[in-house]
Amino acid sequence: MDSLLSRRLLWVGGKGGVGKTSVSAALAVLAARCGKRVLVASTDPAHSLGDVFDRQLGDQPTCLLPGLDAMEIDPDIEVEAHLARVTSQMRRFAVPRMMDELERQMRLSRQSPGTQEAALLERISRMITDEGSPYDLIIFDTAPTGHTLRLLSLPEAMSAWTEGLLSHSRKSEELGKVLRHLTPRKGQDIDSPFTDTTRSEMDELDERSRNVAETLLVRRRLFYQARRRISDPEHSAFLFVLTPERLPILETGRAVKSLEEAGIPVAGTLVNRVLPAEAGGDFFAARRSQEAEYLERIDHELAAWPRPRLPWLSSDIQGLEMLEQLASALESALNNTD
Ligand SMILES: Nc1ncnc2c1ncn2[C@@H]1O[C@H](COP(=O)(O)OP(=O)(O)OP(=O)(O)O)[C@@H](O)[C@H]1O
Ligand SMILES: [Mg+2]
Repeated sequence: MDSLLSRRLLWVGGKGGVGKTSVSAALAVLAARCGKRVLVASTDPAHSLGDVFDRQLGDQPTCLLPGLDAMEIDPDIEVEAHLARVTSQMRRFAVPRMMDELERQMRLSRQSPGTQEAALLERISRMITDEGSPYDLIIFDTAPTGHTLRLLSLPEAMSAWTEGLLSHSRKSEELGKVLRHLTPRKGQDIDSPFTDTTRSEMDELDERSRNVAETLLVRRRLFYQARRRISDPEHSAFLFVLTPERLPILETGRAVKSLEEAGIPVAGTLVNRVLPAEAGGDFFAARRSQEAEYLERIDHELAAWPRPRLPWLSSDIQGLEMLEQLASALESALNNTD
């Protein structure tokens, strides 16, 4: 697992309440301790990253330690910014009599399912493709498993949504043809989909259509690039946190499989809240024997991935002092797995 912190992107996921936020924060402390410039960003609309650090966090990075910044992405800011961008693109394209309909669609979009995720995905995509990023590592503390999986599989749904708005236009068929033609195919260089041939395709469109086509292509390219980064095992990986209990084991097994099917690399799992040896008494003896069965099951069912174990600490995790302690426990857990 030594490569865990050497990648540029780390996604921390898992079932609700297993310790994703605490582990993300502790990993960030550990990375900063190793001299990395790290950003830990919460993508869960129900943020608790600030609570774990015991600091107020906002939508832009706040420096918490030398080399360590943290932020909580605000989905509402993203939705408004996203809709404003789409509206201004569409306004360029729409004829005046379509404007009322356009405004109505935008009002509906604000409330429709998937809008927050689409906007969040666009923000994440910009963060992970930013060539001027000052960070060696970005750790994303994600929402419980299901949501994250949906989020990562959204690019196609997202472009369908954006381009669906064009369906009222009599130009849409022509534009659709150009977009299809310009969409990079497998094996084609997605960094430069605007080739000479495609330029001439664009020339056939009028000024307004060309503007929209270009904006949509820029977004499409952003998603392609983001997805390419997320699927590159050298660049990015997913870490599943779970506890030695039945439901997290079942859910992790399913989630690992579905991420792999989606071509998203999994770095490993982290078994959190393992009873420490010193926990005594009948109650803990009973828990420990059940835990032993589950740990064995994890070793069996998740044998293909590293499975470091993190002890259950004597209190919950709050503030930098506790996080330093959890980071040290993490460091020895990761070293023991190498
Ligand atoms: N190793 C640990 N030792 C002691 N307490 C822990 C440990 N890991 C997590 N906790 C505590 O467990 C609770 C849940 O942790 P956390 O909020 O990090 O989980 P989460 O997976 O991010 O939850 P959610 O799904 O709600 O985002 C918190 O009170 C946290 O302090
Ligand atoms: Mg959390």
